[in-house]
Amino acid sequence: MTLLTRGRVTAVAAVGLAVLSITGVAAPARPADAAPKAAGAESGFVVVGHRGASGYRPEHTLASYELAARMGADYIEPDLVTTKDGVLVARHEPEIGGTTDVAGHPEFADRKTTKMVDGEPVTGWFAEDFTLAELKTLRAKERIPQLRPNNTIYDGRYQVPTLQEVIDLAKRLSRELHREIGIYPETKHPTYFRQQGLALEPALVRTLRRNGLDRPNAKVYVQSFEVGNLVELNRTLRVRLVQLIGGSAAPYDFVASGDPRTYDDLVTPQGLAEIATYADGVGPTKDRIIPRDENGYLTEPTTLVDDAHQLGLAVHPWTFRAENAFLPAELRSSDDPAAWGDILAEYETFLATGIDGVFADQPDIAVEAARQRR
Ligand code: G3P
Ligand code: CA
Repeated sequence: MTLLTRGRVTAVAAVGLAVLSITGVAAPARPADAAPKAAGAESGFVVVGHRGASGYRPEHTLASYELAARMGADYIEPDLVTTKDGVLVARHEPEIGGTTDVAGHPEFADRKTTKMVDGEPVTGWFAEDFTLAELKTLRAKERIPQLRPNNTIYDGRYQVPTLQEVIDLAKRLSRELHREIGIYPETKHPTYFRQQGLALEPALVRTLRRNGLDRPNAKVYVQSFEVGNLVELNRTLRVRLVQLIGGSAAPYDFVASGDPRTYDDLVTPQGLAEIATYADGVGPTKDRIIPRDENGYLTEPTTLVDDAHQLGLAVHPWTFRAENAFLPAELRSSDDPAAWGDILAEYETFLATGIDGVFADQPDIAVEAARQRR
């Protein structure tokens, strides 16, 4: 697919997106109104190891990422939060009680607290209340043991990795496997972390640059559910950017600033045109590509893939998972939510819409589905 390059940052002001100076890192020599920097999307189908190979290992561990790469994933996906001392680490959310053994550490019992995350109260332990050294004393555990009981044999074995460790792993495996393993980092809750005085973006930019990864042809996508930080990162980074799109609600930076637009507005042709001014792709929930009816059955595809492609935006939906609990009703194998259903049929149906890649918990199956389609 021939893709357009994303537009100039100055176009963003014209469409009214909030632009905040949040990266805290000087932009490279390219000024905001210089030639577009986008590399565009890739020609091949992209398999992203979602939180690694989280269908087989506790998510966001080096073991999970390594398995994803060995299974054929093109990219490994670290969701990023920060420690108290400003080190980016891979966790799906600030609260770490759901994916680590922190509750079993009496020395951290007094860290348990309740915070407002994107307007909702969350009780537990929070990454930003721990130094990296403290966080490294914890061990990861399976998030959904009821659905993935086999993964629990790995509980207690792996540390919470830093972004730098994820990059080091990708580089090592790229050499060993003789193909480049990309990284697809997501800034988690950017507004929340900025409100904590621990903005994610400066550390992300510094880390990418330190590793020689801030260049248009780097095998890197940076993703976010918020808009403002991607708009700002477009001024700072040269790598590809992806606007994540939820199934409901709104980007939290819009909520925080009083902007009434929602994710529904972002997937209109006008909303996509705005996204194309600062990003190279969209990462929608797969329900935005083929919605389900009230009984969980797939309906007809929307026009999202075609609309995005007309603007040169790649489309990487999430999340493809083999367990019945996550599959459309017609592809479930039984009433057992943990048993696997016909995910290959799900891939076949979605690949027929023209999507450019997938986020997959079982990357080996996504690789096989893409191979069968070729
Ligand atoms: O980033 C794509 C997908 O991972 C978004 O969902 O909640 O799993 O990060 P989440
Ligand atoms: Ca993610």
